[in-house]
Amino acid sequence: MSQQTSGKFITLEGGEGVGKSTNLRFITEWLERQGIEFVQTREPGGTPLAEQLRTLLLEKREESVDPTAELLMVFAARAQHLNQVIKPALADGKWVICDRFTDATYAYQGGGRGLDRAMIGELEQLVQGDLRPDRVLLLDLDPKIGLQRAAATGEADRFESEQAAFFRKVRAAYRARAEAAPDRYALIDASLPLQDVQAHLARELEAIAGDQ
Ligand SMILES: Nc1ncnc2c1ncn2[C@@H]1O[C@H](COP(=O)(O)OP(=O)(O)OP(=O)(O)O)[C@@H](O)[C@H]1O
Ligand SMILES: [Mg+2]
Repeated sequence: MSQQTSGKFITLEGGEGVGKSTNLRFITEWLERQGIEFVQTREPGGTPLAEQLRTLLLEKREESVDPTAELLMVFAARAQHLNQVIKPALADGKWVICDRFTDATYAYQGGGRGLDRAMIGELEQLVQGDLRPDRVLLLDLDPKIGLQRAAATGEADRFESEQAAFFRKVRAAYRARAEAAPDRYALIDASLPLQDVQAHLARELEAIAGDQ
């Protein structure tokens, strides 16, 4: 792996506490070792405006949040992030490594909140055109374990405060997407020790890097 000729758009997905942030560091260290230029980012967020929308989405509030309003805020942040950060980086030949992206919308707003997938698909097309991740690394874990892991890292946000059934639906929606398109998704068993998860990730990264 030497001369980088085309950027790759890689997203890291999964429920609460599956190890996205932990493994993001592993991935960026791997890319540095290979000398691959990359941009590391996250959703919701990734630009100052989109990070403000993230805060609005995650903070707990008295007012109940209408699911469609939530969905539109997610895509408003995404439009900003895509156009300011992701597309320019890919056009420069860089890899983009993003902690959550549109699969999270299908999982949380679609699976968790029960919004119509076709409506999400229409917004996806409006905001992204044909742009989709080259590869989705899905860390799959029983949400009971994920929430226990996440509980150790700080106070619960508005999503983390949902009930168990919500998280089971999120996981099922993620898995269904991965199973429907195995060529674009890597389904990674995140219940394994970190070392085994990272060995799996390294194999995936090698395959992506080799596929120029
Ligand atoms: N494979 C693993 N085995 C055991 N513990 C793990 C594993 N992967 C991550 N952890 C631990 O689980 C906790 C949550 O991990 P991390 O913050 O990376 O998850 P996350 O998916 O980014 O969570 P969030 O959805 O809250 O952002 C951390 O304390 C991390 O050290
Ligand atoms: Mg995280």
